[in-house]
Amino acid sequence: MKIYDLIIIGGGPMGLSTAYQASKRGLKTLLLEQYNFLNNQGSSAGASRQFRLQYAQQYMAELALSAQDFWSELQRYSQDTLVGRSGSLWFGDPKLSSQEGGIEAAENVMDKLDIPYQKLNASAIEKQFLFKNLPSDYTGFFQPEGGIINLKSTEETLFNQTLASDLVDFGEWQTVTGIDASTPDNIVVSTACDQYQCAKLAITTGPYINTTTAMLDLKVPIDIWQMSSAYFKKLDSTLYLPTWFVFQEPQNTSLFYGFPEVDWSHPGYLRIATDFPDHGIISDPSQRSACPSPKSLSLDSNWVSQHMMGLEATPRFTSTCLIALSRDSSKELLLDYLPSGMPNSKNIVVYSAGWAGKFIPIMGDMICQMLTEEISSFNYRDYKIALSNFAIDWQTPDQ
Ligand code: BEZ
Repeated sequence: MKIYDLIIIGGGPMGLSTAYQASKRGLKTLLLEQYNFLNNQGSSAGASRQFRLQYAQQYMAELALSAQDFWSELQRYSQDTLVGRSGSLWFGDPKLSSQEGGIEAAENVMDKLDIPYQKLNASAIEKQFLFKNLPSDYTGFFQPEGGIINLKSTEETLFNQTLASDLVDFGEWQTVTGIDASTPDNIVVSTACDQYQCAKLAITTGPYINTTTAMLDLKVPIDIWQMSSAYFKKLDSTLYLPTWFVFQEPQNTSLFYGFPEVDWSHPGYLRIATDFPDHGIISDPSQRSACPSPKSLSLDSNWVSQHMMGLEATPRFTSTCLIALSRDSSKELLLDYLPSGMPNSKNIVVYSAGWAGKFIPIMGDMICQMLTEEISSFNYRDYKIALSNFAIDWQTPDQ
């Protein structure tokens, strides 16, 4: 049996980030992926994600600020711009609070942390950003350090840097069939091909998390959303937009977000998406639908024709992805050790849920810190971010 310091199950961005950080720490590591690396089967499907510093919770804004240092480090290894600083525009009903937080709460946190932003009323938003027919009581802000993440380049950079270290073995098309964690400091992971032994285990299987944790008789309380986006052709080549998010009721038909034009994905088009589950909430990725629903696409089109300028009203391309979200909506991310009392509880870390693209490069460091020194908080910059913010309310598979 091959012996490793660390095995990571799940080779998406969070698994790659963990492998990269493990290689920097000199850990002999195995990264297992059930499909091919850089696939589109999970939360990292698609071309782009939003980066933002604003959060309704101070600890999340502190984590986003800290993540900037890790993005800068990763950027050194790529010719592509990994985070394009287009700025981030949030607008809409200032009191509304959604899965992504809310405008007023985020402004309060930005004030506390000295994060700069420009406050805007409805007419300033229309004038500066080419939206139209906004209700006059809408307000918002522009935060200049927000932007667009080149998701595939980010993954490729992590993959290539990790590969270059020679300390990490990559196993693709290796579905994990068993985890035996009954012996302290000796965890055995089985796949259809082989068995491997390790002292530490990281589980980063995103929406597939409960298939993996079922092998430990555990369940993570998540919902899985299928997200759909559409690409609208620009009719005016000078039209420029930052990343944006509009907060409005009813939340199950009226939350939208969008991205600037980029030269690495659908140049000449803007990506616009609905921010609610398409085809309903699912509990297992196998229930996923392959295409966006006509309803979601028509909501996008209606929003575009009523409120945006310089775009065709009908989308020409679409994309979909899955996102695992904590059932407890106060938990933005789920990251924890196994329940105390279980053998190897502090040797196994599980990361699952949340809108976490912006945390890709820091997440690997968080997971490696948890596995190499038993910790209760993360110290980044001047911040102390308690691990309890991300605690998993563990369940058993039959719950
Ligand atoms: C986010 O910034 O977390 C986010 C943006 C758009 C859709 C969903 C989440």
